[in-house]
Amino acid sequence: MLKVLVCVSGGGTNLQAILDKAKAKELGDVEIVRVISNNANAYALTRAAEAGVSGVCVSPKDYATRDEFHKAFLQAIDEVSPDLVVLAGFLVVIPEEVIIKYRNRIINIHPSLIPSFCGTGYYGLKVHEAALERGVKVTGATVHFVDEGTDTGPIILQKAVYVKEGDTPKDLQLRVMEEAEWEILPKAIRMIADGEVKLG
Ligand code: GAR
Repeated sequence: MLKVLVCVSGGGTNLQAILDKAKAKELGDVEIVRVISNNANAYALTRAAEAGVSGVCVSPKDYATRDEFHKAFLQAIDEVSPDLVVLAGFLVVIPEEVIIKYRNRIINIHPSLIPSFCGTGYYGLKVHEAALERGVKVTGATVHFVDEGTDTGPIILQKAVYVKEGDTPKDLQLRVMEEAEWEILPKAIRMIADGEVKLG
């Protein structure tokens, strides 16, 4: 049994895709043991509650220093001893101590074909704005392991999505989610659960 913890910041549509596949028994031998949000108002926490998964909020706003927040974040992970930590739209930089302790056990979904439109400052809608600005005809999504860099870890899965004439950033964001993210993130979890990905 692969114990999976999911970290979220907002709407949680990627979390929903994972919860739906888990419910449909399409994720293999996996249990979603906890959802952590840095934002108490994240709709993702409602999605977790509706699926009967424990959700906790660990917000930097509730701690006097970044160091204290990092300790609390690590503790919220350690409490459930996950085999895999999934960043599903988690917009907080992962503390180094967490990366070291959970090396090769943290994966992230990024809404572009890495190495395009990734790194510091590229998150959420900004990624799609940059892709449209550059005029690319194909974009997509990437699932990768998390290392000390921003979007630099080993790539597990990618899927391409066509840009359409007249797309707004929101149009493109939704198409990338529907055609790529909601498919490849659960698929990567299943591959890890099935032992098809080397965790180092
Ligand atoms: C997703 O598009 C995800 O790829 C992106 O945030 C969105 C979260 O949506 N993540 C990043 O940009 C990370 N750099 P969701 O809360 O509906 O899953």
